[in-house]
Amino acid sequence: MEIARDARIYVAGHRGLVGSAIWRELQRRGYTHLIGRTRAELDLLDGAAVNRFYAQEKPEYVVDAAAKVGGILANDRHPAEFIYQNLQIQNHLIHGAYVAGVRKLLFLGSSCIYPRLSVQPMKEEYLLTGPLEPTNEWYAVAKIAGIKMCQAYRRQYGCDFISAMPTNMYGPNDNYDPQNSHVLPALIRRFHEARQANAPTVTCWGTGSPFREFLYADDLARACIFLLEHYSEEQFINVGSGTEVSVRELTETVGRVIGYAGRIEWDASKPDGMPRKLMDSSRLFALGWKPQVDLETGIRLAYEDYRKRFG
Ligand SMILES: NC(=O)c1ccc[n+]([C@@H]2O[C@H](COP(=O)([O-])OP(=O)(O)OC[C@H]3O[C@@H](n4cnc5c(N)ncnc54)[C@H](OP(=O)(O)O)[C@@H]3O)[C@@H](O)[C@H]2O)c1
Repeated sequence: MEIARDARIYVAGHRGLVGSAIWRELQRRGYTHLIGRTRAELDLLDGAAVNRFYAQEKPEYVVDAAAKVGGILANDRHPAEFIYQNLQIQNHLIHGAYVAGVRKLLFLGSSCIYPRLSVQPMKEEYLLTGPLEPTNEWYAVAKIAGIKMCQAYRRQYGCDFISAMPTNMYGPNDNYDPQNSHVLPALIRRFHEARQANAPTVTCWGTGSPFREFLYADDLARACIFLLEHYSEEQFINVGSGTEVSVRELTETVGRVIGYAGRIEWDASKPDGMPRKLMDSSRLFALGWKPQVDLETGIRLAYEDYRKRFG
């Protein structure tokens, strides 16, 4: 069902990579009553404040794109923060939405919910069929709890709460912190800095042979709006591009887009990680959604944003 253009839509985490893309897309489509709060205005760790906010603003639709997000290093060093903050944020948003009578809520998880050695490509039904990747299990356990919260509230209270699991995202407003960023933004930064420094080589970890999947943030935003309009099932749903790329090809594409003229070297003594990590998004594709932005175009757009923000 199409969402009325004047519906009150709250995007939690509206300044993050995913939330800002959803916000932009809603604005582009002419939605007039978008609601966003920075962390300073509303700390989602404060349950009472979230309840007051819901009572005051009465959102009809809620997208939960707020989370404590980070790479392997951050997850490994701060497991307590990852599990506690993510559970608190989502519990406050989901339970609060039930109390406030929100019409529909979309919870965003991540592909790390799947078992470490999952069969590839990963189908929704592979959830909880094996042990998680230990480096980010704290985050993954919280995300799995979020899926289960939405399912439980649907079963017990009839709430129209759904969950989507996006693959690796990139795009405007991404995090480029060298300690704390994902692979694609980390590569953009490294190649940009190497180009500026005229560095003759860039050394990358591993062999470059593993395959990964990426989705441009604006494509995810379109998928989220599509799901809010057309999907009301208990089963969570994968959101991916359906296209794999080797890390070597990804690295060469980033180097080309940035105009880095030096050599790329591979340090095979460093770990490669899983040989393949791909979501099976056929459930979503069968509903009629598909991505629009190919990887090279997406990297170009992400790099334009990087240059605007960091010079
Ligand atoms: N990035 C990816 O590749 C990816 C892939 C799959 C799924 N996802 C999912 O998408 C969602 C959003 O991720 P993202 O990449 O957009 O992360 P992000 O850029 O770090 O954005 C997260 C947002 O949440 C807000 N937030 C965190 N803690 C908060 C708190 N206590 N109170 C209020 N706001 C708070 C942050 O605000 P501040 O900036 O003020 O901290 C930020 O705006 C997450 O659930 C993540 O699992 C992301």
